[in-house]
Amino acid sequence: MSKSIDHVLEESRLFEPPAAFVKNAAIKDRATYDRLYQESIEDPEGFWGRMAEELHWFRKWDRVLNEDHPPFYKWFEGGTTNISYNCLDRHLDSWRKNKAAIIWEGEPGDQRILTYQELHRQVCRCANVLRELGVEQGTRVAIYMPMVPELAIAMLACARIGAIHSIIFGGFSANAIVDRVHDASVEAVITADGGWRRGSVLPLKAAVDEALERCPTVKNVLVVKRTENEVAMVEGRDHWWHERMAKVSDDYPAAELDAEAPLYILYTSGSTGKPKGILHSTGGYMVGTYLTSKYIFDLKEEDTYWCTADIGWVTGHSYIIYGILANGATTVMYEGAPNHPHTGRFWEMVDRYKVTVFYTAPTAIRAFAKWGDDVPAKYDLGSLRLLGTVGEPINPEAWMWYHKHIGREGCPIVDTWWQTETGGIMITTLPGAMPAKPGSAGLPFFGVKPAIVTEDGEEVETGGSGLLVIQCPWPSMLRTLYGDDQRFREVYWSKFEKQGWYLTGDGAYFDKNGYCMIIGRIDDVINVSGHRLGTMEIESALVSSPLVAEAAVVGFPHDVKGQGICAFVTLAAGAQPSETDTETLREHVAKEIGAIAKPDIIRFTDALPKTRSGKIMRRLLRDVAAGSDSKQDTTTLEDESILNKLRAET
Ligand code: WTA
Repeated sequence: MSKSIDHVLEESRLFEPPAAFVKNAAIKDRATYDRLYQESIEDPEGFWGRMAEELHWFRKWDRVLNEDHPPFYKWFEGGTTNISYNCLDRHLDSWRKNKAAIIWEGEPGDQRILTYQELHRQVCRCANVLRELGVEQGTRVAIYMPMVPELAIAMLACARIGAIHSIIFGGFSANAIVDRVHDASVEAVITADGGWRRGSVLPLKAAVDEALERCPTVKNVLVVKRTENEVAMVEGRDHWWHERMAKVSDDYPAAELDAEAPLYILYTSGSTGKPKGILHSTGGYMVGTYLTSKYIFDLKEEDTYWCTADIGWVTGHSYIIYGILANGATTVMYEGAPNHPHTGRFWEMVDRYKVTVFYTAPTAIRAFAKWGDDVPAKYDLGSLRLLGTVGEPINPEAWMWYHKHIGREGCPIVDTWWQTETGGIMITTLPGAMPAKPGSAGLPFFGVKPAIVTEDGEEVETGGSGLLVIQCPWPSMLRTLYGDDQRFREVYWSKFEKQGWYLTGDGAYFDKNGYCMIIGRIDDVINVSGHRLGTMEIESALVSSPLVAEAAVVGFPHDVKGQGICAFVTLAAGAQPSETDTETLREHVAKEIGAIAKPDIIRFTDALPKTRSGKIMRRLLRDVAAGSDSKQDTTTLEDESILNKLRAET
């Protein structure tokens, strides 16, 4: 890959923010952005120190940034704080105490509103329950829950104690729980009987039970009653949330934690088979998510903000809970599917709660567009003032649809580029300060120094594409991969070790406006509906089936999901594929990883195209899957007839 990452898109439309928006925006013009950006790069310690003062610290830091042992950076060293305190207690002696912190809606239509005071009480109770179950500072707690308020309560309770939460997306399988529990030696699990999804119950507790048969480190399981389906409770290990919560005090002072105390682990896909446990710590992550929320979502305490992500992904961590509550805004949480019971569900909710800021993914926008313009047209979306997107590059048509049919041409759109690893948004436009450009993320946020470089670390001229790197540390950056400093160095820092640059894994270029256009991943990671999946993970899952001898997985362009998954499979012992094999293998992958990783297409083949040294040539398969004529070099291919046969079958 690399010297020639192609880009064909040339977009020249610019959309200036509406005057009414600019009038009340936190940052109103480009000059203010330029000045603050300049300062953040020239004097990062001065800048971040000043920003951090907006939050509560039990003890002020001695040093803003310690760069003595790269890539192990430390932020706000010597300072002590607590993110749960900053999300809750900090608001209790202000008018915000009785305003809504969380407005929640379940898929069946039930509603709950938790004020800051009420949320605080619940979080304190949960912290007391967790303490009774032996959870202490540093204990790893896995959370496998539907999108219910108890999920927010559980994570804030862990943070309050200083326990490290590891949230596992509710759509993952029992096997995914086992891997994550083992990797971090998890001691307690918080789950629910089930969650609602498209009218049926996702049996979460059953998946936990299956997983824990292989996880002896887990001593306690706390179970929220949500769907009231029958579940087995293991005596001594399993405890009902409502029973335990009723018996404890609603007071639990937030622990004074070191700024570098670990806050959470979140697993994400890489280019090898094993998910990476991204570790975030307390102080820097808190300052980063607080500040990005404040300026990029232009968040005010009177905003009703809705991010449609699941908390099982980083977007939900940073921009449903931590960054939003730290700003004292109201965050909306929704449990279910966007098309249940009808395709207007999201717009009905925007209308019902008078949502002001709305943040979603391009894949969702493409689905909305497909469902028809008349769907959002039925609702009053006049409360909206700002829209955002995240997760993958947004195609300009989808951007225009969002602008026209949801923003009604009156809302700026922020296209926010970031990663699980970065903790917070890195590249975007600031909504009141600069125009947006369809398909382009924008400019670096404060303190972020991006560059486009070649494989050899040469900076590419403006307009040329290459590897996107970040040339300086930033507060919300990952601290390591849990338990694996070596892999952390290797994956992100070894390529440009001399220069000390962070390798993002994305290809990008700067356009003539200086805006950063993200092209996509340059490694074996595919982006399905805005979620990162490693091709190797899916391959390992396929190969673990007795039917399969060998598998190669690639992404291909997909109208709604962005990328679909195509698997090329050779069957064991030269068996011929039967009619049921495709479905059997799709289900097998769902069981190993989760439904999200099910291949869209499985193509059986007698052999896979390989190099003479035996490496599968995925780049050639990518073209076959996309149905495009390959202009790629095939000279290293061992047997061209395999490729020709696959092409002919397309
Ligand atoms: C991609 C999600 C283009 C990118 C927050 C990145 C994007 C990966 C954008 C991280 C965007 C995310 N434009 N591409 N606005 N946002 N990506 O860890 O490839 O789930 O590296 O974090 O998603 O995915 P992750």
